[in-house]
Amino acid sequence: MHSRTTPATASPSATSDVLVVGGGVIGLVTAWRTAQRGLSVTVVDPEPGGGAAQVAAGMLAAVTELHYGEQTLLGLNIASAGRYPAFADELTEASGHDLGYRTCGTLAVALDSDDRAHLRELHALQQRSGLESEWLSGRECRRLEPMLAPGVRGGLRVDGDHQIDPRRLAGALVAACERAGVVFHRAWAERLSVVRDRAHGVVLADGTELAAGLTVLAAGSLSGRLAGVPDDVLPPVRPVKGQVLRLSVPKPYAPFLSRTVRAVVRGSHVYLVPRENGELVVGATSEELGWDTTVTAGGVYELLRDAHELVPGITELPLTETRAGLRPGSPDNAPMLGPTRLDGFHLATGHYRNGVLLTPVTGDVMAHALTTGELPDEALAFTPRRFDATSSEIVPPARTQHDTEQPA
Ligand code: GLY
Repeated sequence: MHSRTTPATASPSATSDVLVVGGGVIGLVTAWRTAQRGLSVTVVDPEPGGGAAQVAAGMLAAVTELHYGEQTLLGLNIASAGRYPAFADELTEASGHDLGYRTCGTLAVALDSDDRAHLRELHALQQRSGLESEWLSGRECRRLEPMLAPGVRGGLRVDGDHQIDPRRLAGALVAACERAGVVFHRAWAERLSVVRDRAHGVVLADGTELAAGLTVLAAGSLSGRLAGVPDDVLPPVRPVKGQVLRLSVPKPYAPFLSRTVRAVVRGSHVYLVPRENGELVVGATSEELGWDTTVTAGGVYELLRDAHELVPGITELPLTETRAGLRPGSPDNAPMLGPTRLDGFHLATGHYRNGVLLTPVTGDVMAHALTTGELPDEALAFTPRRFDATSSEIVPPARTQHDTEQPA
């Protein structure tokens, strides 16, 4: 067992050193990494391992999901992608679970001249950002992936953008947490306890009080709704709906696709993520509709229509599942990590499109913050305090030479 260390600002009367509200992949990795450092950790969630990871496709797409204005986030995404091989090995060992981590790469393709112009812009931005990607002709794309439509006009080969199965990742993190001594309360956290201007744990829906030296809010899209959190500390997180389909590639068709294939079709992102077990995940819509998680005929239709334009053979495949989840959107599309202006209260939320990708680095950053009271340098730009309107202690995001660039 680990020797216990004292968290930076823990209360001596705490029943656990750290209490994490939310048992999705971000809450779980925070709990696991923190328990590994010798702190006692509790996770509160009615269904640990549930949440957005049950819907997400699991693309580790630091390069193909690069967007203008997100170059600061890119640094964190790249750092996390670089940690994935060792993280996956360690978590597999710690949990005894296979994570479905697949180093297969990604091909982003264009179907018409507008798409191709968009992809050329992305390629130029990737090159200016020092990222590896290779421009291919339509014929070269089809040579790599013969199931692609004959009309594909060109594409970007990104061999470093891999995938993991988020459902397996979540299950493995629950198991690793249990083995590391993390205590689970399978219940809703009703409200944050604040005593003399300091977070002191939570009260559960049944009235049970759980005290802790440090409380971490990692409740994904629900993070802005925990009662008791002072208004000026409540994270500005909003739900962004994504509908996702799962199809199944029967054995005689395998391998249907050998890597993730994606495109922007009529302005909408569509991606096809082939798992080794024959599952083919097709995503995703992006809808600002509040707390709605209805799977709609229109959402399914648009995903199938766009995916069919890319890979016509998909209409032969059994459709096995349709589901919608909520991404935790933040005002700058980047996560909020570490201490807030309320003593004893940390955030690990707002990961938006990158929760699965950012899981390894989030675990490291949060364990560091919870044991030292400080963010490591790599995460300074992601302090929740960047959104404090009146704070004189705002740490400005680190800027890069590309931060002000816009599409030509
Ligand atoms: N990162 C994929 C998505 O958010 O749809």
